[in-house]
Amino acid sequence: MKTPRKLHIKSYGCQMNVYDAQRMVDTLAREGFVETARAEDADLVILNTCHIREKASEKVYSELGRMRLAKEEAARDGREMRIAVAGCVAQAEGEEIIHRAPAVDIVVGPQSYHHLPQLLARAERDGKAIETEFPTEDKFTFLAEPKPAAIRARGVSAFVTVQEGCDKFCTFCVVPYTRGAEVSRPVEKIVDDVKRLADNGVRELTLIGQNVNAYHGEGPDGRSWALGKLLHRLADVPGIARLRYSTSHPRDVDDSLISAHRDLPAVMPFVHLPVQSGSDRILAAMNRKHTVREYHDAIERFRKARQDIAFSSDFIVGFPGESKQDFAATLALVTQIGYAAAYSFKYSPRPGTPAAEMQETVSAADMDERLVRLQELIDSQQSAFNRAAIGTTVDVLFERAARNPGQIVGRTAYLQPAHVMASPDIIGEILPVKIKSLERYSLLGELASPEFSRGTAPAASSVSIGA
Ligand code: 5AD
Ligand code: SF4
Repeated sequence: MKTPRKLHIKSYGCQMNVYDAQRMVDTLAREGFVETARAEDADLVILNTCHIREKASEKVYSELGRMRLAKEEAARDGREMRIAVAGCVAQAEGEEIIHRAPAVDIVVGPQSYHHLPQLLARAERDGKAIETEFPTEDKFTFLAEPKPAAIRARGVSAFVTVQEGCDKFCTFCVVPYTRGAEVSRPVEKIVDDVKRLADNGVRELTLIGQNVNAYHGEGPDGRSWALGKLLHRLADVPGIARLRYSTSHPRDVDDSLISAHRDLPAVMPFVHLPVQSGSDRILAAMNRKHTVREYHDAIERFRKARQDIAFSSDFIVGFPGESKQDFAATLALVTQIGYAAAYSFKYSPRPGTPAAEMQETVSAADMDERLVRLQELIDSQQSAFNRAAIGTTVDVLFERAARNPGQIVGRTAYLQPAHVMASPDIIGEILPVKIKSLERYSLLGELASPEFSRGTAPAASSVSIGA
């Protein structure tokens, strides 16, 4: 038998990159590759990159510096290592990557990674291979299915891409250029993927897409289905107990999504709904296509459908032209909504986007100060939200053995990590937990039904769950 070739893959950025990396692993497994955790041992190293902000984008070049040394070391041992750059930096920079980092052999964009086997063969033959076109075919039909053992190793919570790309063109954002136009996968293909996952132990799904609630895939009836209808269909798949989706745009919150939250207990009451700014002037300059009032209205509709719903969001501080008053309006919005969690970023000009041409830049000092103030406010809301769980009994989906021996960790409906002392048998189960205390961002508790707490032996396996 041929010895398997070794693949090392490292993903940066969003959940979709985590998902894409898994699909690359599945597809290259069909070519005889097995994964290795050590880049130095690999025959093929793939960096699956993120271009969303400059910091993320530059990370890849420092990593490529390290990979070049590993490649030289391998060559001294008489082994050939190939380096591929995939993801959104590959899409945005293309051939330029090879000029800056000549050790790179393959550059492949997010819409063409199903061609990795052919690109690898081309690199072996010609030295280099680059593909950053948006092919007309659907990459999903060419990607290998994950093997049952791979699904089980990835754990009880899985991502599934249902939609890709974005047509919104927010003026700061590279996504419409790197991921391309908005495309939705057909319902039946998603259902097939989900059944396979559920048959192999997956209990929780996160449907992912850059603008997931713009989903409009073809249904089995030949009609276009909205995300809410897709959620109704997936809630019927045996074994699937929890449904989530990310990332949503406030403009695309429709009645079908609201009714999915109202009617389906499996749809988790935790919604990531980025707003970016609390100022109408800045929202207009960002081309967000909604006002602060409309954002509040969307939040209200969710709250009416499900009283226990909580929200997270994304914010950008220091967008060109953001005045003190605009920033104060962002703080006011956060105070009014009250988030369970949120991400905030300093504005980063991205080449090729309209905002990168805007002149009224905010000083670095002002950006730093605003970021700290916003993060303090968000942190205080998040701590209050987490503290409110103490003394209550909440459902937890158990995912894996924790680092502390004897502890099993899972997540609440609101994605809070929750630890209990219990047997590893509870992995994959959703059980009520009485929350006793909070340690930083983690809840500590006890199983409400003690028959499950019997074993205390540390579990040997630890499955890694995505971001
Ligand atoms: N600068 C800073 N943050 C950005 N984001 C997207 N583009 C930029 C940028 N140019 C943030 C937005 C988005 C999240 C994924 O990243 O908040 O919702
Ligand atoms: Fe980027 Fe989201 Fe705006 Fe689309 S909706 S352009 S992905 S920030």
